[in-house]
Amino acid sequence: MTTQTTVLFVCLGNICRSPLAHGILQHLVDQQSLTAQFHIDSCGTEDWHVGNPPDPRSIQTAALHNIDITNLRARQFDPSTDIDRFQHIIPMDASNKRNLIKLGVPEPKLTLMRAFDPTLQKPQDVPDPYYGGDDGFERVYQMLIRACQGFLDQRDL
Ligand code: 4NP
Repeated sequence: MTTQTTVLFVCLGNICRSPLAHGILQHLVDQQSLTAQFHIDSCGTEDWHVGNPPDPRSIQTAALHNIDITNLRARQFDPSTDIDRFQHIIPMDASNKRNLIKLGVPEPKLTLMRAFDPTLQKPQDVPDPYYGGDDGFERVYQMLIRACQGFLDQRDL
């Protein structure tokens, strides 16, 4: 039996960036017939949007790329269960990472999302598109898909 790779994407509200990352990695894994080998989830460090679907702009951007994230619902990071359940805890930006360290996540489990982008010398933040224009979501999508593919490429499957 193969052990599953467990991945948790984390942002602030779990309605813009991390659900998009979640949908993209799930899509790539399904396309590459690796579904059974992965457990993918996402959450936010804050509880502001718990129970809500992703932001309509994230849903629309995913849909433009044939990815359906309408079934996702926001939840808050839970240190009492998530630290044990996930091998890879992947914050979208340095501030999310600092929040997770304060919540007790051991640094070896933490990798910034864009550290998986092979085109970057140094990992940069996935910018929060919440207060910006709609085009911010497509830019975020392009950052996320490069990082998700980079994540899969560096795994020994
Ligand atoms: P996310 O974006 O962390 O990518 O889900 C945000 C969503 C909501 C808020 C901030 C960022 N907010 O202030 O409500």
